[in-house]
Amino acid sequence: MKNLKARSQTVVSPVLGMYFNDFEVVRGQGSNLIDINGKVLLDFSTGIACTVTGHCHPKVVAAIKSQAEKLLHICIGVAYYEPYVKLAEELQKIVPIKDAQSFFCQSGTEAVEAALKLAKYASKKPGIIAFKGGFHGRTLGALSVTTSKLKYRDGYEPLLPEVYIAPLDLQVVEGLIASHRDKIGGLIIEPILGEGGYVEVGQDFLKGLRQLCDRNNILLIFDEVQTGIGHTGKWFACEHAGVVPDIITVAKGIASGLPLGACVAKKEIMAKWSPGAHGGTFGGNPVCCAAAIATLKAIKEEKMLANATKLGAYLKQKLSGLRAQHSGLIKEVRGRGLMLGVDFGSSEPVKKIINFCLERGLVLISTGADGTVIRVIPALNVKKTEIDRALKIFSAALANV
Ligand SMILES: Cc1ncc(COP(=O)(O)O)c(C=O)c1O
Repeated sequence: MKNLKARSQTVVSPVLGMYFNDFEVVRGQGSNLIDINGKVLLDFSTGIACTVTGHCHPKVVAAIKSQAEKLLHICIGVAYYEPYVKLAEELQKIVPIKDAQSFFCQSGTEAVEAALKLAKYASKKPGIIAFKGGFHGRTLGALSVTTSKLKYRDGYEPLLPEVYIAPLDLQVVEGLIASHRDKIGGLIIEPILGEGGYVEVGQDFLKGLRQLCDRNNILLIFDEVQTGIGHTGKWFACEHAGVVPDIITVAKGIASGLPLGACVAKKEIMAKWSPGAHGGTFGGNPVCCAAAIATLKAIKEEKMLANATKLGAYLKQKLSGLRAQHSGLIKEVRGRGLMLGVDFGSSEPVKKIINFCLERGLVLISTGADGTVIRVIPALNVKKTEIDRALKIFSAALANV
């Protein structure tokens, strides 16, 4: 296994943007990654917010191995199988929606596709409201409601019709609904704009959206693909605001890095989706579902939500301290739990800091429209000693730019 970068250049599509030029990884364990030269690095990127239980959590690996020996694939349309149903049962226990039902797929973008299709189908109205700076995925439907980076849309328009992009302003949303009355069936928003730069949407704003949706018979979709499964210290970020959506999308962390997505909705909304109106061959693959069940169990047994809350507060306080020391460099520290963003207002220092940190053994990645924010998203079971080590490297990086 050598020269991965050079070999990629001949066989891998260049469409995949790379955060790092020469970072070649071989193994992962807990919050550590081991590169091709045997160097151990602290991973505070978690594969873009996926490895919530750390890399290769023993309980998750054991569940994957055990399921792989029993049944790799069958498809829920062919037969019922335990991991699919069990995972839906486990999700029903943790989502804020009462008596929720689940549809499983492979990724975040497919979870969003499912949610948009469900909203249109169940409401019998074609229009969708989405928000400026939102990111919901790369497939054509999800891309239609994505505006976090406009280059994602370049070359693909026209996208879905009847999509209305609003600022985070309740009056504008109300105006949009009024001028397209009886046409808007769904409204989609991330409680924290992830790819948009870790911007927290106000709790009053979410409450206001709930009221507007209720008054106008619109289905409220919370895209918790990045915020969900504990990053903010609760299973779902919307719980902080006490706002319950009609539909929730989940992916990323749910199976500790195995490809799994879910569109979870109120039973009465799911009841309107007739058999065959949506589907997929691989959705809810037995091995991925087994990994997800083990992930949720490990998070509960090892009290990882409490860890995310406690260490997230500690990390935010330390980062805010660094901001005070480097006020000319850092504009803002924001976010909740272990989903924190450090906004530099410019991509130049971000690139330098990320490269410096990688060199010293800390993996961080950027976010935001122009890559001006560094996201700090360690695993939910990260240790305080690991956070302190990361802070030491990050602090040295700040001093260096
Ligand atoms: C909020 C949100 N929705 C949807 C997606 C798309 O997920 P995926 O990359 O798994 O398709 C992402 C990915 O970053 C996301 O952050």
